[in-house]
This record gives sequence, C-alpha cells and structure tokens, in this order.
Amino acid sequence: MINFQEVSKHYPDGTVALEKVSFEVSPGEFLFVVGPSGAGKTTLVRLLTREELPTEGELQVSGRSVADLAGKELLQHRRELGVVHQDYKLLPEKTAFENVALALEVLGRSDSEIKEIVPHVLSLVGLEEREHHFPHQLSGGERQRLAFARALAPEPKILIADEPTGNIDPESAWLAIKLLGKINEMGTTVLVATHAAEIVDQFGKRVVGLDKGKVVKDQKKGKYAS
Ligand SMILES: Nc1ncnc2c1ncn2[C@@H]1O[C@H](COP(=O)(O)OP(=O)(O)OP(=O)(O)O)[C@@H](O)[C@H]1O
Ligand SMILES: [Mg+2]
Repeated sequence: MINFQEVSKHYPDGTVALEKVSFEVSPGEFLFVVGPSGAGKTTLVRLLTREELPTEGELQVSGRSVADLAGKELLQHRRELGVVHQDYKLLPEKTAFENVALALEVLGRSDSEIKEIVPHVLSLVGLEEREHHFPHQLSGGERQRLAFARALAPEPKILIADEPTGNIDPESAWLAIKLLGKINEMGTTVLVATHAAEIVDQFGKRVVGLDKGKVVKDQKKGKYAS
C-alpha cells in the first residue's frame, strides 16, 4: 500500500531530513513512526501527501509513484489519504458540522450525502453533541477529534496522523490512539507519527524508528526505546 524505496529528502537549504528511507506498509496495517524532534517524521508525512517531493528514491502509494502523479491521478491519491495535521488546521469561523462538511463539498458530494455522513462521523468520534459548536468552543481533545472526523469523512484508505497526542492531556491522548485503533479495525491503514513513548509501548503495534533522517529500527510489536 505504501512503499518507501531508498527515499531521501534534502531541503533546498541543505538540511538532510530523510536519508535512504526504505519500508513498506501493507493494507490494513497500523504503524507508528517514532523518533526525536527533527528526525524527519513530518517530512515523511509531507512526502506522502505530496506537499514535498523526494530528492532521491521512489515513494509508491497503491502501486503508483507519488512523484509522477498529475491531474486525475493526483486527485485520486489525495482522496485515498486522510490527514490529521499536528495543528489540526480547523476553520475557526465554521462549526464542527461545517468543518467536516467542507471536506465532502470539495469532493463534490451532494447535500443529502453530507447530511447523512457528517453526523455519522461526528458520532464516531464522540462529538454528536457538538455539531453546532465552533472550534474555539471545543476543548483541545474535542478539536483534535473534530480533525479526525474531518479526515475520516471521505472514507480514506489511509489515515495519517502527525503527532496526534502532542497538545492534549494524557487521557485524551490515550482516547485518540484508541480511536485510531478502532478506525484501523474497520479496515483503514493507519500511520501515526509521534514521540509519545508510553503510548507506543502500551499499544503494541509495529514501530518504525527514525533518527536524523534514517530508519534505525522496524519492529513488529515495537517499543519506543528498545
Ligand atoms: N522546509 C524546510 N526547510 C529546511 N529544513 C526543514 C524544512 N522542514 C523541515 N526541515 C528540517 O528537516 C528536519 C526534519 O524535520 P521534520 O519536521 O520532518 O522533523 P520531525 O521528526 O517531524 O520533528 P518534530 O518531532 O519536532 O515534529 C529538521 O532538521 C528540520 O529542521
Ligand atoms: Mg513533526
């Protein structure tokens, strides 16, 4: 489903963010990408979303080289991915319902589909009572779950969460990871970039470790620090 083949990313200023990174992710897998600040986790996410292109090597998603995508294939690729950014990127002037609805409107979904899907995903993340609230009226954990709902609404094949436990309390963080686990059980491939060592250790899923842009471990039931 995802295949990094000796992928390197050197930013124009000379920073080496990733260096010959190789690993594969199978459909339906749950994967943590861990590593200290600056290890290259967000860069890896940006290559997947095609916000950045690799300097060297090849990244394939669903058998297609991401760098070669254009036009319809690029749109198709973006539809396959649901992304929860580190800072959520919610629209402050829109309610919870509208934030999720917009993700469907841009895909050309009809009003009646939107009216059906939005309450469904909001209840999946436990925000059924918060439909008409604006982001500033939500708690940090709720805002994050709203970002999850928005990423999930188009039913992506792959859900990518960049540091989903960074700005919330430990209990909300654990809830968020459990929610990602549930989404994974429903069939979605999930990739979580994080440095939340405790959660990674408790969750017992595959761990790919990055350090200074290199893969330093790949464990099936990994631990953060070992
Ligand atoms: N646009 C950019 N131009 C130059 N260097 C960059 C750019 N974006 C990131 N970097 C550098 O690339 C390296 C990897 O950054 P990246 O954001 O991928 O790390 P990270 O693992 O996500 O860190 P964190 O845990 O702090 O989010 C860092 O040294 C960073 O300073
Ligand atoms: Mg990052």
